[in-house]
Amino acid sequence: GAAAAGARQLTLALIKPDVAAHPHRVETILRIMRTNGFEVLQRKRLRVPRELAETFYGEHREKFFFPRLTNFITSNDLEALVLARPEAISVWRALLGPTKVHRTRITNPGTLRGLFGLSDTRNVGHGSDSPEAARREIGLFFPELDYDQLWEAAQKPAA
Ligand code: PPS
Repeated sequence: GAAAAGARQLTLALIKPDVAAHPHRVETILRIMRTNGFEVLQRKRLRVPRELAETFYGEHREKFFFPRLTNFITSNDLEALVLARPEAISVWRALLGPTKVHRTRITNPGTLRGLFGLSDTRNVGHGSDSPEAARREIGLFFPELDYDQLWEAAQKPAA
């Protein structure tokens, strides 16, 4: 089943507008992803419409930072990627480092947020936090794809 040893997980990764504005940084992050065993199954650059932002971050609708977060994520192009590898969800979040950049710079300086984060808003990236979230978020950013087909394809190692 899905939990079998070696099964690949999918996760949605976002490279947020603060970093997506710098092509060399995007390439650096892509290289770090591949070095860490991720296969990039899908990649798209887009300006997120407000409605998508508000749905995507719907669980934070009541938080004080919701306007700031949705304004930022819609402010300019970002990169959305579907990544695959075993334990993709936790490994990608570990590479990003903790959310709050001002602390992460000290506690996890070698992570992507530690290296490139500018603030709690401009914090480099996003990673799904559960398999259910990954399915939902991949569906929101890649509505043209069939999630189950994508998952099946990810179980076959790249040639
Ligand atoms: S919470 O409150 O614990 O649910 O928040 P957290 O999981 O740490 O973060 C959820 C997303 O909200 C963003 N965030 C913020 N944006 C702007 N300002 C402030 N202060 C702030 N705090 C948290 C944070 O970057 C998370 O975005 P994603 O894209 O999911 O990483």
